[in-house]
Amino acid sequence: MSNINAIESAKEHFGKLLEQQIRRVDLLLKEQEWTDYSGLSPIVIGMIGGDGIGPTISLATQKVLQHMLSDEESQGKIKFKTVEGLTIENRAKHNKSIPDDVLAVIKECHVTLKGPTHTPEKGDGWPNIESANVSMRKELDLFANVRPVRIPREDIDWTFFRENTEDLYAVGSQGVNVTPDLAIDFRVITSPGSERIIEAAFAHAKRTGKTRVTVVTKANVVKTTDGKFLDTAKKIGKRYPDIEWDGWYIDIMTAKLLDKARRDQFQVLVLPNLYGDILTDEAAEIQGGVGTAGSANIGKKYAMFEAIHGSAPRMVDEGRDIFADPSSLLRAAAMMLEHIGFEEKGSRLHKAIDICGMYERTISITGRSNGATSEDFGSYVMSTVEDSSLDSRWENYIDSQ
Ligand code: IPM
Ligand code: MG
Repeated sequence: MSNINAIESAKEHFGKLLEQQIRRVDLLLKEQEWTDYSGLSPIVIGMIGGDGIGPTISLATQKVLQHMLSDEESQGKIKFKTVEGLTIENRAKHNKSIPDDVLAVIKECHVTLKGPTHTPEKGDGWPNIESANVSMRKELDLFANVRPVRIPREDIDWTFFRENTEDLYAVGSQGVNVTPDLAIDFRVITSPGSERIIEAAFAHAKRTGKTRVTVVTKANVVKTTDGKFLDTAKKIGKRYPDIEWDGWYIDIMTAKLLDKARRDQFQVLVLPNLYGDILTDEAAEIQGGVGTAGSANIGKKYAMFEAIHGSAPRMVDEGRDIFADPSSLLRAAAMMLEHIGFEEKGSRLHKAIDICGMYERTISITGRSNGATSEDFGSYVMSTVEDSSLDSRWENYIDSQ
């Protein structure tokens, strides 16, 4: 193809993306109501096993959840639904990141708990379809990726609000190879998209008695899109005079999370999608590894809760999947309980995971046969949740740190 033709065809492609994104902005500008879970009966919880270690850690988590919600389930207030078919084999068969019939079932659930799903990359033998996570976040408009990281003994209590539908992810599978030597991807940041995530971060800070919101960008270099994100923060910050806010660049932010003298001063952090992806892995690692962190994908209508790590196919290949750590999915389940109105149960589950995974560790997961299985760890958490002295047990650990 001549260069002129190559440019014309890239322009045409870009034009289509612009039309698509402008339609998206129009939808975003239409106010949507938040789901009121207290008015729903039953609340339908979808369980999505996923790939690799997903089914194993999902099963361990489902047992805990079902146990904690057994009264509500028998009273018909909660219904569990198994969502089949969000596996790489089925997605490859349909050549779709989420096959239509699977998406239809997902939409019948108010909230879902999702095991990790394999994300194909060029050359790995699977069709190079979009990540199921990314598609689900876009399809269900789950714009807020909320990722808490807590290390009580160091006074670390961070909550990341990662924007979840825009940035390089919005059209991440629709970049163009303009010529064999020139590849271009597109970064999308919108005003309503930035507003709703930044507003959610400030509202969370206010609701939870936090005093500071940190906005992370690279607006000194990526002037237009990050500039918009930062300008939006300036605007929203004015609505919250009691909350102090500051802007940081992503590079120095990654360094500051390692600065033991200052890192405990960060509280709520809000950032565009890709920076949020990277920074939350770093934060989770500081907490004890990506296997310890849960993730909430919140939209106004739907919400999906998941582990922040991947499907660990190597563990399955080596026959070690039964030893996979379910902590991150259990955390996600605790966040789900809080989100759908069972705050007390959610908090108990968080405390039990702290005790079993961080402090007491009567049995521990190593990912190998010298450690506990997912199932046994799940039972350990379940019996800890049941313990009537859970609160004091937890407080003793915190005090002794
Ligand atoms: C995450 C994951 C996903 C992402 C992948 C699996 C597409 O890393 O949830 O952080 O990049 O968002
Ligand atoms: Mg990630």
